[in-house]
Amino acid sequence: MKSLAAITAVSGWVPEDILSNSDLEKMVDTTDEWIQTRTGIKERRILRGKGRGPSYMAAEAVKQLCNKRGISPAEIDLLICATVTPDLIFPATASIICDKVGAKNAWGYDIEAACSGFIFALFTGAQFIETGRYKKVVVVGSDKMSSIIDYTDRATCVIFGDGAGAVLLEPDNEGNGIIDAVLHTDGSGVKHLYQKAGGSAYPPTMETVAAREHYVKQDGQAVFKFAVVGMADVSEDIMKRNGLSANDIAYLVPHQANKRIIDATARRMGISDEKVMLNIERFGNTTAATIPLCLWEWEKKLKKSDNIILSAFGGGFTWGAVYVKWAY
Ligand code: UT7
Repeated sequence: MKSLAAITAVSGWVPEDILSNSDLEKMVDTTDEWIQTRTGIKERRILRGKGRGPSYMAAEAVKQLCNKRGISPAEIDLLICATVTPDLIFPATASIICDKVGAKNAWGYDIEAACSGFIFALFTGAQFIETGRYKKVVVVGSDKMSSIIDYTDRATCVIFGDGAGAVLLEPDNEGNGIIDAVLHTDGSGVKHLYQKAGGSAYPPTMETVAAREHYVKQDGQAVFKFAVVGMADVSEDIMKRNGLSANDIAYLVPHQANKRIIDATARRMGISDEKVMLNIERFGNTTAATIPLCLWEWEKKLKKSDNIILSAFGGGFTWGAVYVKWAY
């Protein structure tokens, strides 16, 4: 039997500092009630400290991952970092993480697919295991969204937070691992969710800063409409393709952008609330970190050979679902 790429360990790290809905009430014209009913979020974490970026959080998560699995970072062959808020424009945050954790024998690179970054990176990493080329691939999603959020834009600032989560991929010969993925990109969605300035098309100038163009700009309603349909469609597609009924699925692991999008996806899949991993209430939308943070928190409930569906929708647009058979 061909080796599959199995998730053999998960880890997560979030900063201690909490930004609650009542804190936001003091910053913008909003209410705890509005935020909770429209998004399901009560609080989110914020990374403080000069010079700290996603590599800081990711390094904590990767060190924890290696400890849990009882391996040395020197054994990592490849590290892929999904992030939309890299420490620096270049080089890749993966390079910084490898240096911080002592992954001396690894090569690494970043994947930028916004809120779908983790599942895109996971499926990419899995290929290197399936070919037999590598034995240990780390996939880490880490975002410091607070660095690109406009805390005067009440419709956007309430949903995002900071955090990191990581998984280790290793070969499995028992039929468990990454089974299938349905992934999509549609660049016509760029205009609804993007950060205009800071890249090479619109380099930083006094004018771009004054115009607040270095922040996330989101047309929330438009993104919401695409997300509800996209995430539900792709989750249904992967079930059909793999002959899975709702009863066959142990958990849905959804990207945590808005509880209403998650509920719509679960309804379309026909699965009940207790099978949906949720931590949006405490962490908000941590972009590339939401899915591994859920796996980290639910790890103890998962059993070997459980069927789980990871599903995401985000900027790009990018969206997709990954079918995983849990390996431990
Ligand atoms: O993870 C990446 C992908 N991103 C997403 O999936 C996010 C998708 N979008 C959303 O989750 C929602 O669109 C938001 C949570 C961002 C906004 O919720 P919404 O229900 O779509 O609100 P809206 O923008 O349609 O605004 C409805 C009303 C407006 O007032 P009027 O014009 O009806 O008087 C807004 O001005 O709510 C107002 N509003 C607020 N009120 C209190 C917008 N933000 C707030 C706020 N507090 N924070």
